[in-house]
Amino acid sequence: MDPVRRANSSVRDLPTRSGLCGWHPDAVTSRLSPVWLVLIGILSVQFGAGIAKSLFDEVAPTVIVWLRLVTSAIVLTLVARPVLRNRSAHDWLVVTGFGASLGIMNWAIYQSFARIPLGIAVTIEFVGPLTLAVLGSRRPRDFAWVLLAAAGVALLGFERGELTWPGVLFALLAGAAWATYILLSAETGRRWPGLDGLAVASVIATLLLTPPAVSTGGVQLTDPRVLALGAAVGLLSSVIPYSCEMVALRSLRPAVFSITFGLPPADALTALHDADVTVIGTATTSAEAAAVEEAGCDAIAAQGSEAGGHRGTFAGGFEAAMVGTIALVPQVVDAVSVPVIASGGIMDGRGIAAALALGASAVQLGTAFLTCEEAGVPDAYKQAIVTAREDGTRLTRAFSGRPARGIVNRFMTEVEAGGAILPFPLQNALTRPLRSAAATQGRAEYLSLWAGQGVRLARRQRAAELIARLAKETEEAVVRLGG
Ligand SMILES: Cc1cc2nc3c(=O)[nH]c(=O)nc-3n(C[C@H](O)[C@H](O)[C@H](O)COP(=O)(O)O)c2cc1C
Repeated sequence: MDPVRRANSSVRDLPTRSGLCGWHPDAVTSRLSPVWLVLIGILSVQFGAGIAKSLFDEVAPTVIVWLRLVTSAIVLTLVARPVLRNRSAHDWLVVTGFGASLGIMNWAIYQSFARIPLGIAVTIEFVGPLTLAVLGSRRPRDFAWVLLAAAGVALLGFERGELTWPGVLFALLAGAAWATYILLSAETGRRWPGLDGLAVASVIATLLLTPPAVSTGGVQLTDPRVLALGAAVGLLSSVIPYSCEMVALRSLRPAVFSITFGLPPADALTALHDADVTVIGTATTSAEAAAVEEAGCDAIAAQGSEAGGHRGTFAGGFEAAMVGTIALVPQVVDAVSVPVIASGGIMDGRGIAAALALGASAVQLGTAFLTCEEAGVPDAYKQAIVTAREDGTRLTRAFSGRPARGIVNRFMTEVEAGGAILPFPLQNALTRPLRSAAATQGRAEYLSLWAGQGVRLARRQRAAELIARLAKETEEAVVRLGG
């Protein structure tokens, strides 16, 4: 196989957990972007509300909202099949509150729809989540959004002249229930996995509204047309928008999560795997690599001593773990069965070809990307890299308290000479204001200029150019080697 295809397919072939998760949204998201999915969800909600409102002459709002909740409760329960065993009283308390807020939110907004124009009701309802967002924000700019929304509500109200107090109060109640729903959704998500919480909450909301719906609806609840329209409202207002949002959110999750300085906690690893995220751990020796594999990571970044930035060493001394990439990678490859990603000093196609020859499945480049146009580091930092030499970097604790490789500068030498360096992360916190000021003023002598020993190979270019160059050079290097 040609080397570039091999490198690409190696990365793609890193084990993912999609097989363990059953239904996977990627088939849908590959065709629809998250933005389209959210827009479809919004349109669906509006159509659902429109149908519901057109029914109000013949069917009471309480009955329609109940039919909507029944529909979504049935669909969600069938999809999620929630596990109810071994649940604590606190789990039930949270999900009951969540279900009650869901029921009240839906019931109150339909009561409002029956009394004031749809657009005004939805706008007033939005005050609930908006207030929540502003209370949780410290940025003065966010208060301007509330004022704008309030102005919008006032303008809509003045123009139509169709407002009634009960309609407005029901919309505000719906907004308050929406805010409660948002507050409880995070806690419900923590206590109930996947869709379980929402499915149980939908059943609770349905049960809550059953007595008033049955007493108001009476024989209407046996009319197939009313049932069909209620189910359509349920699909359009709950099932379709929720599915669209869920698929959009899942497509926004990171595909890969990497960790350095140690092993991931078991519960975090389980949560990441449950979310179908590939987890990469960092190792600087083969013993660390074995521990990372044992912990359950899907791949290992083997960080050679040439690497720029912080050392990932977590078991044993930093000095002893200064193993060069060319020695480290094959030993790590032999020690583990998961894919190994070579890193440290790789700057061009020659380095990539060498890493692949050593048995790596992929490579990780840090310094090479720092001088790309898209990199957000100060220009003084980029300039320091392109003018540095291979003997111009060294390991230091001066900036953060943890050993990291960077270009030698005034800050590094003077702080090291002073001798008083606090442990990580104290030193890091203390030096941050100085580094921030240096970045603003473009003064490289006080910046942490993290960079690897391959500095002399760095180029100023666009990231796309770098990638294209790496692909071409790798092919050329392999051809030169007779592969
Ligand atoms: C500026 C900079 C920041 C880095 N930040 C991280 C990080 O947050 N997490 C991590 O695992 N590695 C980090 N690294 C280390 C890289 O993952 C990698 O080991 C290293 O860049 C590879 O060597 P190279 O710089 O010679 O390409 C960083 C490296 C640099 C240069």
